Amino acid sequence: MEIQKLKGQNAIVTGGNSGIGRAIAIELGKQGVNVLVNYHSDKEGADEVVGIIKQAGSDAFACQADVSSEEDVLAMFAGMKEKFGHIDILINNAGMQKDAPLHEMSLDDWQRVLGVNLTGQFLCAREAVKQFLERGMCDKSKACGKIVCISSVHDVIPWAGHVNYATSKGGILMMMKTMAQELAPRKIRVNAISPGAIKTSINEEVWSDPQQAKDLLNIIPYKRIGEPEDIGKVAAWLVSDEADYITGTTIYVDGGMTLYPAFADNG
Ligand code: BGC
Repeated sequence: MEIQKLKGQNAIVTGGNSGIGRAIAIELGKQGVNVLVNYHSDKEGADEVVGIIKQAGSDAFACQADVSSEEDVLAMFAGMKEKFGHIDILINNAGMQKDAPLHEMSLDDWQRVLGVNLTGQFLCAREAVKQFLERGMCDKSKACGKIVCISSVHDVIPWAGHVNYATSKGGILMMMKTMAQELAPRKIRVNAISPGAIKTSINEEVWSDPQQAKDLLNIIPYKRIGEPEDIGKVAAWLVSDEADYITGTTIYVDGGMTLYPAFADNG
């Protein structure tokens, strides 16, 4: 059996019911982490992830919360404390798209995406840091706490028709770096993972259509669409002591999408 490098640590994975969050929650569970699997409306999906983690021998429970609501986030962190005692790892993953051309984008769709993708990460990070500091250092990890912000290649690649989404991801980049700078002296590591095109429900319309999937490969030099597990493995490593000297960094897990592929035979 694989050595469980994260044994006995406790994590919150927001949006852990599906897609990238699901893969991260399961990977952490396999590595011995007890996981609060947060979900917004898909209770069934969250319960399934809880079942898989328990099967792997770790503890888990599902917790409903809208991460853009301060009240919900406070209740979720109180639940975490009650159930697991303290938090070691926060995976700030919950995110959404509500796409529209700029001139047709409603204020509601702008605010909803910023609220979930950016404010949600702020609220969860703030509450996690309070609990990290309250507990202090312990012998389970070299760091006092670890935060991973799940961002996107669109934190650096502008994306027409998705101004709310790209803005939220650009915001995560600077929020993550600022938090990392502020919290490093307190031995709290903050990093980001920026996935490229990963097969989840957020972009199913694209990868499930043969022509669109083919076109998508034109902007992925590595010539495959990513799987959620590609992110799960990197996240589990990033919160482990093997990555103890890494803070304030973004790891692009994107098959080369950020390498300006259009310039490979041009320019
Ligand atoms: C988006 C996906 C998109 C990918 C690459 C992600 O952040 O959520 O819809 O396929 O970026 O463009």
